[in-house]
Amino acid sequence: MNHADGGNGRGKHDGMLDALERAPARSHYWAMGLTDEDLRKPLIAVATTWSETMPCNMNQRRLAEHVKAGIRAAGGTPFEFNTIAVSDNLGMGTEGQRTSLVSREVIADSIELVGRAQPFDGIVCLVGCDKTGPGAVMALARLDLPAVALYSGSMAAGRWRGRDVTIQDMWEALGQEAVGELAAADVLELERVACPGAGTCAAQYTANTMGQTLDFLGMSPFGPGDILATDPAKEGAAEGIGALVMDVVARDLRPSAILTHAALTNAITALVASGGSTNGVLHLLAIAREAGVELSIDEFDRIAARVPIITDLKPTGRFVAADFARAGGTPVVLKELVEAGLMEEGALNVDGRTVGEIAAGVPSGAGGEVIRSVAAPAKSGAQFAILRGNLAPEGCVLKLSGAAEEVHRGPARVFDGERSCSAAIRAGAIKPGDVVVLRYEGPAGGPGMREMLAVTAALVGRGLGESVVLVTDGRFSGVTRGLMIGHVAPEAAHGGPLAAARDGDTIEIDIPGRELRLLVDDAELDARLLDWEPPTPLYPSGVLGKYAGSVGSASDGAVTSAAPLRQPA
Ligand code: FES
Repeated sequence: MNHADGGNGRGKHDGMLDALERAPARSHYWAMGLTDEDLRKPLIAVATTWSETMPCNMNQRRLAEHVKAGIRAAGGTPFEFNTIAVSDNLGMGTEGQRTSLVSREVIADSIELVGRAQPFDGIVCLVGCDKTGPGAVMALARLDLPAVALYSGSMAAGRWRGRDVTIQDMWEALGQEAVGELAAADVLELERVACPGAGTCAAQYTANTMGQTLDFLGMSPFGPGDILATDPAKEGAAEGIGALVMDVVARDLRPSAILTHAALTNAITALVASGGSTNGVLHLLAIAREAGVELSIDEFDRIAARVPIITDLKPTGRFVAADFARAGGTPVVLKELVEAGLMEEGALNVDGRTVGEIAAGVPSGAGGEVIRSVAAPAKSGAQFAILRGNLAPEGCVLKLSGAAEEVHRGPARVFDGERSCSAAIRAGAIKPGDVVVLRYEGPAGGPGMREMLAVTAALVGRGLGESVVLVTDGRFSGVTRGLMIGHVAPEAAHGGPLAAARDGDTIEIDIPGRELRLLVDDAELDARLLDWEPPTPLYPSGVLGKYAGSVGSASDGAVTSAAPLRQPA
């Protein structure tokens, strides 16, 4: 981490207010209508990921006005700027999905660049759709300026035929239509009501998972992120964030004091306890790498094995994000985890209190049916596990479903890329017991490590969600259900063993032994890998080509840059 005003000469006290040679810079501040008094105050950047290309972040410009009002009221001068966002849902199953994980790096890089370009004293980041939260925290770790993040909020659920529906129902409706359980007209009716307005996908999918993670990492105060995007209370919360960042600047509290190993451990625990998306594994590894904190993918397995799911939220449970907010949200989850002894209570939150102090102010047992206790959880048993073995020497993420077999063994059905795999499922060519290998979809190989939602939803829709295992170096959507293994590392495009799998090979998934094995002997596997040739890159140039050439292993968070490891305090 680099202190932005330490060592590189930047910071608002570098002569900007009075040095003659800074007159050209000052002239541009006057051009924007600022006064001498404005420039004497702390200068606070307000970074949004607003976009009208998706519902997820479309409330952020309005929220930014309230953040800025809070900053002004607390004696600061705000400067709003915008970075990009890419919708996971809109690109799903298309070439556009290759851009999603890449966007996390672009978001991190762009916030970092603006943060370094001008002498800010602090920064607020407004985040929503999946990659924006982790991208922003990665930038904040790099900048190490006093900072607060605010999650712009979940969408409300839609209502269809007397029940709450989300984007998950929309995707699964396609699979149901394919097997005749729904008519095409039903799907068209559902699409009009599934997503009723602004906000992120409405249950415990990736965006809400990462939004809650901001609280447990300590970069957001507990609670404001839970307020729905369309709830008028969000505006007051945004104003409070403006006031808070001024306080954080006054206390000179920096991300390097917050993003510690304890904070990351708490975030992993909350990820598991909330039944959160496995994309959180990738993003927390990336944040750790950017913060210089040593964090192994195996820590996720250790925590997942001992922490139950206490929130009863879709996709693993019954309720939606609005129910979670009504049940008390992240403060109640925190309370339950602290009472069970599962939190590092000394970890610091941006509000200046430790996690233990925050939990002390939350009533016990307030979460009702939606947020349960660790003693009587919504689900026991791990929701995911980290496997290694000769198919994934650097690790992979097994997403468990309720009916998962302890050991699954089946014939490999190998596909290079999502399209041929989806076609085979649609043609009915995949049978119960098969192990579908879907490769060259990793960070470099895809490029972009696409989410395989179209494939997994088609499997679930055809009733194969529990009897077919998917093994891929790609990712899963937080909406995904079924038995599947992703993030296989090293990826096929880097010559990982997945590249050596062939149709008809036997693959074994040994859940208790935490192994993913290709049952061919070592000499044969070595010989196949010796013969392997890297595929021609799909995108030799442009941002996707640049990304493919620089991205690291999924087991390290698939980052394109990383800070040197910090020495433990
Ligand atoms: Fe943006 Fe789901 S696609 S939150």
